[in-house]
Amino acid sequence: MLSMSLRALIDNERIPKHIAIIMDGNGRWAQEKGQDRLFGHFHGVASVRDIVEGSAELGVKYLTLYAFSTENWDRPEQEVTGLMELLVETIRKEVPILNKNNIRLHVIGELGMLPDHAKNALQEAFDMTAANTGLNLVLALSYSSRWELVNAVKKIAEDVKAEKLDPSAITQDTLQQYLSTSEFPDPELMIRTSGEYRISNFLLYQLAYAELYFTQTRWPDFRKENLYEAILDFQKRERRFGKTSSQIIDGLTNN
Ligand code: IPE
Ligand code: IPE
Ligand code: MG
Repeated sequence: MLSMSLRALIDNERIPKHIAIIMDGNGRWAQEKGQDRLFGHFHGVASVRDIVEGSAELGVKYLTLYAFSTENWDRPEQEVTGLMELLVETIRKEVPILNKNNIRLHVIGELGMLPDHAKNALQEAFDMTAANTGLNLVLALSYSSRWELVNAVKKIAEDVKAEKLDPSAITQDTLQQYLSTSEFPDPELMIRTSGEYRISNFLLYQLAYAELYFTQTRWPDFRKENLYEAILDFQKRERRFGKTSSQIIDGLTNN
């Protein structure tokens, strides 16, 4: 038998609405091939393309990709410069494909840290994809969750000081509105590639009830089939949100 795609096994009624991915392992992938780390980042772009396309095909509404963390600024200068070049080049090249596939681009992170040519390329891409209504592709760039939370606390404090916000009226919804992800629902599935079992400052608040999926596959080798495998794993799980299993089963049969 020829290998069958796992796609056929996925329950289309239970596709996660929001998938978040820590795209990790580019450097090791390249070094294992005796190449420079940037070679790995370069090949990681093909995975991004494939996973964006695969997510759009499945009807995923939000895909958040962790592309560069605040802490990644501390990498060797030539790697950081190379990554920024790759980012600008990729965004410029991909905009027509995003439009063709009705994909809207968003970015979360401390964009002020980015070089001007990257800021400009991103702004252009936001403007050119703003009317698209299919997949929302969220790039986490110069992003860290602690930065985001500190930022939210500052803005809340300013609004309280300006008497726009009453501290006693602050709820979980209020806090959510001050995060850079205020427009997006929380991720239901979080994938990390390359065999690391950590969150690395990614969406700490938003991942409260996400299902976590870890794979040994390095990011440059990650393709649609790997995504299907993660979604199938997700679909086998029982999400209880603090309740008991029988409450969840009763809830399903009473619907
Ligand atoms: C992920 O791959 C991409 C970025 C962090 C920009 P890495 O560059 O972290 O690759 P490894 O983890 O060192 O193999
Ligand atoms: C997390 O990967 C950030 C991105 C994938 C963009 P890192 O490779 O930077 O994380 P650590 O250092 O292994 O925790
Ligand atoms: Mg890494």
